[in-house]
Amino acid sequence: MVAFTLNGKSTNVDAEPDTPLLWVVREHLKMTGTKFGCGAGLCGACTIHLDGEPVRSCQTTVGDVSGKSVTTIEALSPNGTHPLQVAWVAEQVPQCGYCQSGQIMQAASLLAKNKNPSREEIIEHMNGNICRCGTYTRIIRAIQRAAREA
Ligand code: FES
Ligand code: FES
Repeated sequence: MVAFTLNGKSTNVDAEPDTPLLWVVREHLKMTGTKFGCGAGLCGACTIHLDGEPVRSCQTTVGDVSGKSVTTIEALSPNGTHPLQVAWVAEQVPQCGYCQSGQIMQAASLLAKNKNPSREEIIEHMNGNICRCGTYTRIIRAIQRAAREA
């Protein structure tokens, strides 16, 4: 058994400590907003927040989060109205959508620390979150909009 907080609720899972957190979130806890992309820490599709910091859940074991607080896209906002989610809709960011949960979670960790990031800071922070559909320009615009309108 591993105990941690998931989206504000105490959670116990019956899993080996070396099980990837991504598996536990998706398969054990049925929270499927977090996506499996590469499984190797290279794409960012699986990004979640661990004690407020963005981490790749495919490269984090459930044992690593014992006693810690995990937030997934499902709890970024209780009703989908985080400024980034609003901006994502306004800018029509997604194409296939597969990478977008990870993109938003990565972006949210930037705005939590820096309410008015420069374009360069956005690019640097988002570097490593891959979008096969090439929505990068819209992602940057949406982050800028969220920073403006938050
Ligand atoms: S699935 Fe985790 S970084 Fe790609
Ligand atoms: S929207 Fe398709 S991979 Fe990013």
